[in-house]
Amino acid sequence: MARVALVTGGSRGIGAAISKKLQSEGYSVAATYAGNDEAAAKFTEETGIKTYKWDVGSYDDSAAGIAQVEADLGNIDTVVANAGITWDGFFHKMTPEQWNKVIATNLTGVFNTVRPVWPGMRERKFGRVVVISSVNGQKGQAGQVNYAATKAGDIGIVRSLAQEGARAGITANAVCPGYIGTEMVRSIDEDVLNKHIIPQIPAGRLGEPEEIARCVAFLASEDAGFINGSTISANGAQFFS
Ligand SMILES: NC(=O)c1ccc[n+]([C@@H]2O[C@H](COP(=O)([O-])OP(=O)(O)OC[C@H]3O[C@@H](n4cnc5c(N)ncnc54)[C@H](OP(=O)(O)O)[C@@H]3O)[C@@H](O)[C@H]2O)c1
Repeated sequence: MARVALVTGGSRGIGAAISKKLQSEGYSVAATYAGNDEAAAKFTEETGIKTYKWDVGSYDDSAAGIAQVEADLGNIDTVVANAGITWDGFFHKMTPEQWNKVIATNLTGVFNTVRPVWPGMRERKFGRVVVISSVNGQKGQAGQVNYAATKAGDIGIVRSLAQEGARAGITANAVCPGYIGTEMVRSIDEDVLNKHIIPQIPAGRLGEPEEIARCVAFLASEDAGFINGSTISANGAQFFS
């Protein structure tokens, strides 16, 4: 029977590349999104991958959505917590709303996504959890105290889950992308991108979403069973940790 993968934020950007890669490897894939119905409908039309809409910031909506995915596709054995947002600003100007929204989506969203599938993985003695963190969670970034906190938190989550899940055949790992050419990054002012960001990347270019998707597919594979609590950095040599 095909393995079943849930990819949050799987309809656009890095998540879309992950959904497609896992589909190409034979998984039944469910891709979630927050509100961009048009992009999700186009994605489903192009790929045949079913999309589901819920806010990862809500536990109840996540649990209900995950129950629906399992009713449609079967037990989820692979979960990719990818949905994330930025709401940047220097700390002296950052509002509680900016802080809370990013924490709710990027950090609590990981809890809300993994917690409902965890008991089933434990019972079936197999599971793969991959969380999409960021280079900015590893090194910090001015203007991103909220975002960097969530992405550093992802690393704490997978290291802890790895210790809890190892005996039950579950692995939990993080991928830390550098700057990848998705809408999230393309929305940065072009001048800032060309003068300040790309020059920091020894590879001299943005990464491609498919380069992250290949890391995820490896971590999700049966071959990666002894890799647990790790982070894979894919950042064009921008930062080493
Ligand atoms: N791009 C980069 O350079 C980069 C670098 C390091 C890490 N990352 C991380 O990689 C992940 C994907 O980034 P991306 O650049 O591919 O982003 P993106 O192109 O902006 O796509 C974000 C996806 O997440 C969904 N999403 C956002 N908020 C959500 C919520 N509250 N509930 C459910 N889904 C939600 C979006 O749904 P809608 O389509 O409905 O909006 C969309 O499918 C994020 O966690 C990001 O932090 C990205």
